[in-house]
Amino acid sequence: MESRTFLQVLCLAIVGLGFANAEVPAVFVLGDSTADVGTNNFLPGFKARADFPPNGIDFPSSRPTGRFSNGFNSADFLAMLMGFKRSPLPFFALAGNPKLLKRPSFRGVNFASAGSGILDMTGQTALTSSLSGVKNVVPLREQIEQLSAVHDNLTAIKGSAYTEILFSRSLFFISIGSNDLLSYFYSNSSVPKQEFISALGLEYEKQIMSILELGAKKIGIISVPPVGCCPSQRAFNESGGCLEGLNDLALEFHSTINALLMKLGSEYTDLKYSLGNAYEMTINVIDNPFPFGFKEVQTACCGVKRFNGEGICDKNANLCLNRHEYLFWDLFHPTMTASKLAALTLYAGEPRFVSPINFKQLAEA
Ligand SMILES: *[C@@H]1O[C@H](CO)[C@@H](O)[C@H](O)[C@H]1NC(C)=O
Ligand SMILES: *[C@@H]1O[C@H](CO)[C@@H](O)[C@H](O)[C@H]1NC(C)=O
Ligand SMILES: *[C@@H]1O[C@H](CO)[C@@H](O)[C@H](O)[C@H]1NC(C)=O
Repeated sequence: MESRTFLQVLCLAIVGLGFANAEVPAVFVLGDSTADVGTNNFLPGFKARADFPPNGIDFPSSRPTGRFSNGFNSADFLAMLMGFKRSPLPFFALAGNPKLLKRPSFRGVNFASAGSGILDMTGQTALTSSLSGVKNVVPLREQIEQLSAVHDNLTAIKGSAYTEILFSRSLFFISIGSNDLLSYFYSNSSVPKQEFISALGLEYEKQIMSILELGAKKIGIISVPPVGCCPSQRAFNESGGCLEGLNDLALEFHSTINALLMKLGSEYTDLKYSLGNAYEMTINVIDNPFPFGFKEVQTACCGVKRFNGEGICDKNANLCLNRHEYLFWDLFHPTMTASKLAALTLYAGEPRFVSPINFKQLAEA
């Protein structure tokens, strides 16, 4: 296979520099709860956290880690497909232990913070912020500042040549936007939909550019799923259908991201990117669950009241038995089975689900 030969050559080059024998030398993850592996455990705000059972019930040792899942999430499965054990550690776990940056086994950082958004405002409750300056979540802009700090520390420890090569070959995976759309939808804002979506797109573009300025060349983005079909949102629809208004926002934001990536691709000629269409991927499963092994795509496995969508997943919630038959783990988040399917689709999927190239092609590019 031609791509295998190419991969071997690439691996040899990477091994020569002391990187791990994987498709990419490291993975840097940015985003919200869909990719958070424990960032929010380090924050004083107590709202958007999942470091208690039954979260993590299917994780090794049934350990709740802060992932909003019964086990691994999409960031973990993508990292596994790239040749690693699971997602890299949260930034705050490294920040308290800088030795971890120096280890030869360093393979990236996860900055994702549940509840966060592309906009700084998203996920910050006005009350806590104004009272104490304490943040509930780390917005994408600050996640990129942390990435920049990691870049500078690596440069200081391992030199600029190493850091430049590491950044140029690593995968930067971004999964964010749902919370911005949700807070706009529920804000009763007088800003028209089109105007909001373009402003959000412009801000996203600015932030992706600052990642590129740090030397990233391989960007993998997953757009916003049909959030209106989450159990938490179905619970608001008397007939139990998806909330169409929210789904429309998600669809429109996908087109906006697609356009901005095309623009960035023409401006940064060595940029390679993949855009996963979370909307298409999820609707495809909801419309036709059985071939994928799902039996329940409306009600969450763990939660409270209607669709198990009216309360978080904690020890007092209902808990289903056949977790692998559910699309949703809790009121907002996919099960481990669904996250694995999403990661596999990003990695090897056809252009309908991920374009212009899939994550495997991106890793090998
Ligand atoms: C890197 O350096 C900054 C200070 O510039 C520090 O705050 C941060 O915790 C360090 N650690 C890591 C893992 O980047
Ligand atoms: C938006 O409007 C609804 C109904 O008019 C109200 O219940 C809700 O509190 C409002 N939300 C905000 C954030 O103002
Ligand atoms: C509620 O669901 C039905 C389908 O069951 C759909 O036709 C309707 O538009 C939904 N309502 C809202 C407010 O989205």
